Amino acid sequence: GTVVLAYSGGLDTSCILVWLMEQGYDVIAFMANVGQDEDFEAARVKADKLGAKKVEIVDCQKEFVEEYIWPGVQANALYEDRYQLGTAFARPVIAKMLIDVCHQNNAGFVSHGATGKGNDQIRFELACYALEPKIQIIAPWRMPEFFNRFKGRSDLLEYAKAHGIMVSSTPKAPWSMDANMMHISYESGILEDPKTHAPDDICEMTTNPINAPDKPEKLEIQFKNGVPTRVKNLDDGTEKTVPLDLFRYLNAVGSKHGVGRIDIVENRFIGMKSRGVYESPGANILLHAHLDIETFTMDREVRRIKQGLSIQFSDQVYRGFWFSPECEFTRSCIARSQEGVEGTVVVQVYKGHVYILGRESPLSLYNEELVSMDVQGDYDPQDAAGFIRINALRLKEYQRLRSKQLGN
Ligand code: ARG
Ligand code: SIN
Repeated sequence: GTVVLAYSGGLDTSCILVWLMEQGYDVIAFMANVGQDEDFEAARVKADKLGAKKVEIVDCQKEFVEEYIWPGVQANALYEDRYQLGTAFARPVIAKMLIDVCHQNNAGFVSHGATGKGNDQIRFELACYALEPKIQIIAPWRMPEFFNRFKGRSDLLEYAKAHGIMVSSTPKAPWSMDANMMHISYESGILEDPKTHAPDDICEMTTNPINAPDKPEKLEIQFKNGVPTRVKNLDDGTEKTVPLDLFRYLNAVGSKHGVGRIDIVENRFIGMKSRGVYESPGANILLHAHLDIETFTMDREVRRIKQGLSIQFSDQVYRGFWFSPECEFTRSCIARSQEGVEGTVVVQVYKGHVYILGRESPLSLYNEELVSMDVQGDYDPQDAAGFIRINALRLKEYQRLRSKQLGN
């Protein structure tokens, strides 16, 4: 049969490519361009040389930004209050393109190099099954005939040597990375000890805030329907309106100022805790700006419901259920909540931080007259006394009961 392999050009998936051929499969090497810094042509040549029947490199960047990152912005998506889900958002778009390639080539099998302990295997496979119920998955790192043969990196290197697989001469970093336009993640290796500090220069996408410029930059970010439609740099006049350009530009500014770095321990879906370092500069600027314009324009009670949906949505994305009835539902509710979320926010980025300077909106629920200390407006301060007394009723009753109990 024909198998479409999610290929990275690295040692693991190169060995998997050759190993699948040994098992009798025709292999199509598939690479998704989700904005990672990668020499795709070199990887194409490499897969060709290893004997891939075909190499498919698909540019997913536009779709990734508009159909995955933007809903994440609308949701203020965060996993366990901190992780912006850069890897998790990229998996469904990659799986979608991968299944398209299966359909175009009549391939019945999909293979990937994700380990048997992680989230990525779950995300890839759930998405593949949802999009093509008949698909069969080959996950070598879960197959004894593979993992018993390749017990460590030295076995892979030996196999590579025997099969003419080129191995990069630059020594491998002592951690594992996953990179795309939204973020880079670093896990495992020397990071596995949660008390070990990550090396100062681990991050490849952002400047260390300690070395960031002493001069801040101001950005004006315009939102419509809860997604950014224009970014203007108020210092040098740069303007971006096309989603992909706009997001890349925020990445560039955020990177320069060291925005969006975290070091966390998180709960994997599979049941274990893992430690990771993440950097998501552009997404972090958008999170701050969107939170601000949303609170400015959205009804208080709608916002509370939407916050709950956001937690649900983030869990669904993290756990690989993008293509599921529940995630379609949360996505559409969240999108509905964003209809009035528009206006502009001015932020200042400076040494790893995003400071909000001001906001403006034609649809704001903010009433300057109502809130003013100097104007009465359509509000009678005497009403507040009753409001407080009614709310205090319950507190007084509670206190009465407690002092009775203590008295006994
Ligand atoms: N822990 C993060 C997540 O589950 C990052 C995973 C990184 N994946 C990788 N193949 N290195 O989303
Ligand atoms: C992997 O197992 O491939 C990386 C870690 C993860 O997926 O959580």
